[in-house]
Amino acid sequence: MCGIVGYCGPRDPVDVVVAGLRRLEYRGYDSAGVAVPADGRIREVKKAGRIANLEAALAADPLPSSGAGIGHTRWATHGAPVDLNAHPHVSADGRIALVHNGIVENWASLRTELEADGVAPVSETDTEIAVHLLARAVAGGIDLTTAMRQVAPRLEGAFTLVAVDAHDPGTVVAARRNSPLVVGVGQGEHFVASDVAAFIAHTREAIELGQDQVVTITADTVEVTDLDGAPGEVRPYHVDWDLAAAEKGGHDWFMRKEIHEQPEAIAHTLLGRHDVDGRLVLDELRISEEELRLVDTIVVIACGSSFYAGMVAKYAIEHWARIPCEVELASEFRYRDPIVGPRTLVVAISQSGETADTLMAIRHARAQQARVLSICNTNGSTIARESDAVIHTHAGPEIGVASTKGFLTQLVACYLLGLYLAQLRGTKFDDEIAAVVAELERMPVMVQQVLDDHGVVTELAAELAGARSILFLGRHVGYPIALEGALKLKELAYIHAEGFAAGELKHGPIALIEQDLPVFVVVPPQGRDQLHTKVVSNIQEIRARGARTVVLAEEGDPIAAAHASVLITLPKVSTLLQPLVAVVPLQLFACELATRQGHDVDHPRNLAKSVTVE
Ligand code: F6R
Repeated sequence: MCGIVGYCGPRDPVDVVVAGLRRLEYRGYDSAGVAVPADGRIREVKKAGRIANLEAALAADPLPSSGAGIGHTRWATHGAPVDLNAHPHVSADGRIALVHNGIVENWASLRTELEADGVAPVSETDTEIAVHLLARAVAGGIDLTTAMRQVAPRLEGAFTLVAVDAHDPGTVVAARRNSPLVVGVGQGEHFVASDVAAFIAHTREAIELGQDQVVTITADTVEVTDLDGAPGEVRPYHVDWDLAAAEKGGHDWFMRKEIHEQPEAIAHTLLGRHDVDGRLVLDELRISEEELRLVDTIVVIACGSSFYAGMVAKYAIEHWARIPCEVELASEFRYRDPIVGPRTLVVAISQSGETADTLMAIRHARAQQARVLSICNTNGSTIARESDAVIHTHAGPEIGVASTKGFLTQLVACYLLGLYLAQLRGTKFDDEIAAVVAELERMPVMVQQVLDDHGVVTELAAELAGARSILFLGRHVGYPIALEGALKLKELAYIHAEGFAAGELKHGPIALIEQDLPVFVVVPPQGRDQLHTKVVSNIQEIRARGARTVVLAEEGDPIAAAHASVLITLPKVSTLLQPLVAVVPLQLFACELATRQGHDVDHPRNLAKSVTVE
């Protein structure tokens, strides 16, 4: 986690860096700080709490002007979120300032080494060790870039480091391993940041950095090398979204804005996915058709909401492509010695593309010869780079910590993958595939209809604002949606919420049902086997025991409606695609309920958007 910004150029670096930190606040908001080199020494201001605290401190005690600056917004790992542990950390001689994202795993042995050398770290952080190592290196007469190349290989774990040297005030030096870093290329100015959102107000031209690369920026130059000093591969790209996409556009929360952007996000994710004959083309799929035909198992790995998207993927892939598909939490995958090999396709789903659990699982899978295809929303992210193939979702930046449009577009990408594999392996006829694709293309309109119809959800959130516990039930693809509904409520409203497979009720959870307990039930469309009937029976069972049933059912479903204390109608869609419409009221409900409870919806407590630690 943590957000990092560095800047070299003619603007006031403090303004640029603090504005950048604001856009990265989703990555962590325990403390924030900024440092500039000025008059031969580092000047820094850092404060525990949100960036507003830093801004107030800067207003009270402004930093001097400078040609460069660095800043950090923190999600605490080592050391409590107090001023002392906030970044930037400054060397004892006041010459070097450093910000860090990640975890230095061997910090204790390095600390012992420094203490033996007479250095006394003042904070509880692992980061501070690195600033003292850099200071010791430059004191030996080398420049900061060379020092970074010496120090970075000594650190074990994950890091993005960004540093400035008061003796070279127009330069920022950075390095990365297992943690994100991009360079922004402007006219007579350069940026480094955890995410392009930090500099999108100034430039849309970016450079993606590889593993173990060091970058040195000045106002006019960018130099990328590996840790040995050899020139590094430079991969420039153009960011296809702009500042407006990273702002709230009149909504109270980014989350609400992102919920309302979902029709457009789905449409963008579907753009250009088939040729004139209607055949699917996934051209970012750099695994040969022959290899994909030989795949005998698919293992989906992901975390949180992305994991629930993976659960939906299992139903779609097995139904359409007839390939056995497992879904596994990325954080569990490598610890159970999974059986994967050259004929396993591992599908990694990650909105941010930086989730450490997912990244580590990918590396484990690749080490076992599996091919990895990632479904990712962030261009140039580590997961996208380290995969054999990528299906990019085109949701645009997702800033709200709770995933919404990221989740919906992941579903779309999973459906496309399932259909593509079916096309390739001939398990579905072309016209059957084309019919599903055509239905997917109608989904933006369907989702818009749910958004336009949200009055019932708003009233329900007002009514249930004092609830202590809310349950969610679903079957088949409605089950992951029940889990997702519960997760959204937990993370935003901090109330007890649980999702169950409706068929599991009678095996235990039904004991939780008591008078007036709110239970959301996702009812599958009518007419598919006995699925609909079974879920209706489940509603009857809980209603008989006093539950207040909030039923999500397709329009024109009188049987489900008859058992609803509150009815939320969904547009008519096919069973497998129902998650795309069913999850939207649950997102709106969680957002609305949390708003009514006075919570900060975009920054739920204890969470960060991009979880780059295991
Ligand atoms: C929940 C949420 C998280 C993420 C999870 C994975 O609203 O956003 O559960 O889904 O942390 O993140 P990514 O998809 O970035 O790997």
